[in-house]
Amino acid sequence: MINLTINGEQHELDVPDNMPLLWVIRDVVGMKGTKFGCGIAQCGACMVHMDGAAVLSCVTPVSAARGEIKTIEAMADDPVGSKVQQAWLDLGVAQCGFCQGGQIMNATALLKKTPKPETQEIVDGMAGNLCRCGTYNRILAAVERATDEEASS
Ligand code: FES
Repeated sequence: MINLTINGEQHELDVPDNMPLLWVIRDVVGMKGTKFGCGIAQCGACMVHMDGAAVLSCVTPVSAARGEIKTIEAMADDPVGSKVQQAWLDLGVAQCGFCQGGQIMNATALLKKTPKPETQEIVDGMAGNLCRCGTYNRILAAVERATDEEASS
């Protein structure tokens, strides 16, 4: 049995140690907001937070998961995540939307670590999140907007 706290809820999981955290979140716990993109740590669609740090859940075995796991479903109640989501809405960032949960998770982790990043720090910090629809300009603008709101609150 593996015990995990996901979005504040305790889960006792009867799963193999090497099962990817992504599978546990989606298929065992049943939260579908975190997406399977590439499965090989190349796209960022599966990003979740582990004790506040963004991790790629597709290549994280559940046995390596530690602390508080948070997914996109928890961001509406997160002080920084909710600002990031609002900025995404204000600027209409999403196109197909598939990558955007991971983008928001990474942007939120970035702003928690660096509340007022330089533009290049945002570009570098978000480089691991691919968007096949090419929404990168809007993503950058939205992170900067959330940064401004973060700084002014
Ligand atoms: S919005 Fe379609 S992949 Fe990013």
